[in-house]
Amino acid sequence: MASKIGFVEWQDSFELGYQPLDDSRRFLVESLNDLSRALGDGDYSEGGRLSLRFINAARRHFAREEDILEVIEFPGREDHKAHHGKLITIAKNLEKLCQDHPDPEDVNRGFLELMNMLLDDVIQGDQDFRDYLPRD
Ligand SMILES: [Fe+2]
Repeated sequence: MASKIGFVEWQDSFELGYQPLDDSRRFLVESLNDLSRALGDGDYSEGGRLSLRFINAARRHFAREEDILEVIEFPGREDHKAHHGKLITIAKNLEKLCQDHPDPEDVNRGFLELMNMLLDDVIQGDQDFRDYLPRD
């Protein structure tokens, strides 16, 4: 029986108005939702695979974003980088949880931690450098 554990609807307010970053930010949210569906269905092997897809997409996106933050000399870039690192750690923990005899409660808790991190520290945190970005 499928159950919903968390879902993020993309909001206009998430947009930075800078396409090179917004496209991959939106993809991260979609990847998180795909992961949520698999975990809600109790399909943990798919959950592990989708966690890895999320991690790879997040790494590529963060690397690109961090390069941009250097170029525009965003003052909060070191803190922001630290949030990126934390999110990758949480996602890796979730991938591992999916692999070794997953307990549904632990998996759900891990997923919610990842979702909150993505929303509060990454999606909302990105707004802090919005005004530093070049307009495209
Ligand atoms: Fe970010």
